[in-house]
Amino acid sequence: MNIPKDPHSYAHPEKAKILNIDLDLQVDFENKQLKGTACIEFETIGDSNQLILDTKSLEIKTVADTQGHALSWKLKKPDKHLGSALIIDLSPNIKKINIQYVTSPQAEALQWLDTQQTEGKEYPFLFTQSQAILARSWMPLQDSPGIRFTFTARIQVPVGMMALMSAVNPQKHTIDGIYHFDMEQPIPGYLMSLAVGNIEFAPVGPRTGVYAEPQMLDKAQYEFADMEKMLETAENLYGPYRWGRYDLIVLPPSFPFGGMENPRITFATPTVIAGDRSLTSLVAHELAHSWSGNLVTNATWNDFWLNEGFTVYFEHRIMEALYGRSYSEMLAALSRQDLINEVAEFIKDGKGDETRLKLNLTGRDPDDGVTTIAYDKGYFFLRSLEDYVGREIFDKFLQDYFDSYAFRSNDTESFLKYLNQNLFVNNNLVPEPHVEQWIYKEGLPENMPVVQSDRFDRVHDELNRFLKGINASDLKDTNSWTTHEWLHFLKGLPEQLSPGQMKDLDNTFGFTTSGNSEILGAWFVPVINNKYESGYNALEHFLIHTGRRKFLTPLYSAMIKTEDGEKMAEEIYKKARPNYHFVSSNSIDDLLNWNPDQ
Ligand code: BES
Ligand code: ZN
Repeated sequence: MNIPKDPHSYAHPEKAKILNIDLDLQVDFENKQLKGTACIEFETIGDSNQLILDTKSLEIKTVADTQGHALSWKLKKPDKHLGSALIIDLSPNIKKINIQYVTSPQAEALQWLDTQQTEGKEYPFLFTQSQAILARSWMPLQDSPGIRFTFTARIQVPVGMMALMSAVNPQKHTIDGIYHFDMEQPIPGYLMSLAVGNIEFAPVGPRTGVYAEPQMLDKAQYEFADMEKMLETAENLYGPYRWGRYDLIVLPPSFPFGGMENPRITFATPTVIAGDRSLTSLVAHELAHSWSGNLVTNATWNDFWLNEGFTVYFEHRIMEALYGRSYSEMLAALSRQDLINEVAEFIKDGKGDETRLKLNLTGRDPDDGVTTIAYDKGYFFLRSLEDYVGREIFDKFLQDYFDSYAFRSNDTESFLKYLNQNLFVNNNLVPEPHVEQWIYKEGLPENMPVVQSDRFDRVHDELNRFLKGINASDLKDTNSWTTHEWLHFLKGLPEQLSPGQMKDLDNTFGFTTSGNSEILGAWFVPVINNKYESGYNALEHFLIHTGRRKFLTPLYSAMIKTEDGEKMAEEIYKKARPNYHFVSSNSIDDLLNWNPDQ
């Protein structure tokens, strides 16, 4: 297949392409550095005599062949987003090189937590977040989703700690702090991961389990008890799971995402541990990436919807199969509302361009493409296709698609060709007429699927009664509402509420003291908009202790839109920022025009 040029990598895989990376790294918590060697095996095409790798703020010590002969190399001037190209001159017949290097204490993928930022307060913690283009800040590699390689690693950590990677993982601590890893299936660079801490393992099913700090382990095991069933359900839908085990690690609360689909070991935020298993669609989502994303990968970040749109679709299908249509339709209705709001917002801000599925992120940070468009517009596009051809045909199509492209990447254009041939022509169907519009046009096409949720309709009725003046305590059936119903209720509140209404809601339903992060995140928006001061302490606590960007952005945005809110945002951010991973602080810096050196 011809690989489109990735605007976010310096690599020239058509000349020299990496095949395997063997890492030998020491994890130095004192200096916040990874130190060691990357042994890179590659193939050259034709008479190429250069290997180009991506790096970002790496200190390169030496580059040599496997006999120890130094090779000449240079690091190009760094670009803010892309980092520096490392250009290595090859002598003939070299297939493998050793690069000795040290990471920067500011390496953007890495978050080094001191003991106080962990649950146990006894050991420090380190985790990576490589997607989209941050892997290059902790190893030299060809950091493009269209380039796959296998890896092995030897990682040395302080005694008493455990290391985990996107590979076959240990279940027990070693006595010497040395851990060996092997990933036999080729993966793209953005799926490289490492977590180090006082981590323990607990099994869930034969192929599934959870890792967490010991204090969190029981809670995690309880919350994710359905993991094995999810895995089986996913296989029943779209074919065998190809990665061996599926485990999940619950990270400290500064983890910037809900979840990250690192192969064999999903990284997850502790904010999904609600105590009642109500937020586990996140596991279905990350698990689904084992097909859409990790097996069939977006060729460049312009095709990001191929990863996320398919995954949201697959996630909802897993949830439907396990918990019923009325459950998954609540998820779909929440997606739909978020999508409609975000599209309206983009259009209002003159950024209609961002509402296309196929993006053009050349010269920009690929992180700019992480919006509900890729996720929810992608989802509804696929759902519109399901509506058009029927579920049976669509499921067969998806299963074949994952098979045909397994361990390969795909871009939007070749997906469209495949779609046309395999979904329409081969089934003797007239091509669905809105396909191009979904992909290349702004906004939402007229065949945007409608979601019908009786459960949400009832919530809506109660919300209206409340807004007409009925007391919160007189609303009907709220005792039976699940997290999703509450989210629908909270997100449906108008921007302005009276002090009396805020107080009534809070006194009756206890939102400010909720242990559910999604409910807190949704509640704090009206708290801010209506200057509900009784919620301020909890809001500040939440922002200081949670680093999940999805919660941070709406809250800081709401603050800076209110009168005097900017000052409040800055005061809180000053205290909270040291707890955030680069991915989150980078976004909030932008939002608040924060000067990182202040
Ligand atoms: N792969 C993403 C997270 C991501 C995207 C990291 C782009 C960096 C760049 C992950 O699968 C994801 O979508 N997480 C969501 C989960 C949710 C949709 C269930 C999140 O973190 O909120
Ligand atoms: Zn995802």
